Amino acid sequence: MLTWDDYNQEDSVAATAAPEPAVVAAAVAAQEAETAPEPAAAEPAPAEPAPEAMQAAEAVIANMDASAGVEELEMGASRLSVDEKAMINCRADLNQLVPFKYDWAWQKYLDGCANHWMPQEINMTADVATWKSSDGLSEDERRIVMRSLGYFSTADSLVANNLVLGIYRLITNPECRQYLLRQAFEEAIHTHAYQYCIESLGMDEGEIFNMYREVPSVAKKAAWSLSHTHELSDPNFSTGTIEADQQLLRNLIGFYGVTEGIFFYCGFTQILSMGRRNKMTGVAEQFQYILRDESMHLNFGIDVINQIKLENPHLWTEEFKEEVTQMILEGTALEIEYARDTMPRGVLGMNAAMMEEYLHFIANRRLNQLGLSEQFPGAQNPFPWMSEIMDLRKEKNFFETRVIEYQTGGALSWD
Ligand SMILES: [Fe+2]
Ligand SMILES: [Fe+2]
Repeated sequence: MLTWDDYNQEDSVAATAAPEPAVVAAAVAAQEAETAPEPAAAEPAPAEPAPEAMQAAEAVIANMDASAGVEELEMGASRLSVDEKAMINCRADLNQLVPFKYDWAWQKYLDGCANHWMPQEINMTADVATWKSSDGLSEDERRIVMRSLGYFSTADSLVANNLVLGIYRLITNPECRQYLLRQAFEEAIHTHAYQYCIESLGMDEGEIFNMYREVPSVAKKAAWSLSHTHELSDPNFSTGTIEADQQLLRNLIGFYGVTEGIFFYCGFTQILSMGRRNKMTGVAEQFQYILRDESMHLNFGIDVINQIKLENPHLWTEEFKEEVTQMILEGTALEIEYARDTMPRGVLGMNAAMMEEYLHFIANRRLNQLGLSEQFPGAQNPFPWMSEIMDLRKEKNFFETRVIEYQTGGALSWD
């Protein structure tokens, strides 16, 4: 473990005082200089900045306008009040996290952090043996593993890009943005997890990552998601009109309600069912952690959509409600198509008809959560065990394959 003393071996620093940053920087530089390889012909570093450069820098600082960069905000303006905060089209200072207005968003940020995990924590040894053996999995089971990794390896990048390049700047309150930043990192972890599975199993990376352009049932889902991101990703897009605000809602419903809320469910159910049968337990455990994160993304997205509705009831017209209902039905139809393509026969104790029933049940849930009428009356959940997995706490290890404890905290100590 490195301590600050390691950086200050020769310097006497009072035990109660933190070292001066300049002292630490000099000590670090000295240490790096000791270990770094010598350049072939080292040029002498300038001892001091040129006087003209220093004068120019001082002139800029002396004439600096402290209000520049604080876009459209008055210097010395009164302190932020909760009433000024809003989900969209907010004019209040977005750099001040508190006072909190949207506690639910902040709580989800905390919950997301508490669920932190990394793909390398999961032991993939048994999966590698199963995947490489000629009789480890049936052809139908192998197709499911391939298709799942094919769809998900790019789907989480679509979601992350939509978050960062599309919706982040349009959601105008800092609690939600704090969660969006957490979610964006989780999406990076998910893409990492899929890549980790693909690499561990020695799959053809090109075949898997390009599947969203080659296999129709995968490509259609990706194309549907992408069709809802184009307009928002245009840097010139801004909210503030009914049409533009509804476009933002369409995007949120397309990504949170359909992509993360429907498109993930067939693949997750298939892989988790495989894990329950003690096959590909490492891949299944990766998916299990991802599903737990995704169910939080979904719930956050639903809260965001409903809060925007609450603050802007004029956007939620009868016509718009019909359009949203149709979006959910389109997503359901695409996921059913994917289920049929990935399960031409019964496999892992399920079949495409059971998945169709499950997706009707999921679609009803999504419609309900958005305050819309269910479209599949009486649809039942044939996989009740999925709900249990979604709520799983990290400490309870479902497949008993986890090998590394995640370490929190850094290696620096102030002693
Ligand atoms: Fe994800
Ligand atoms: Fe997600």
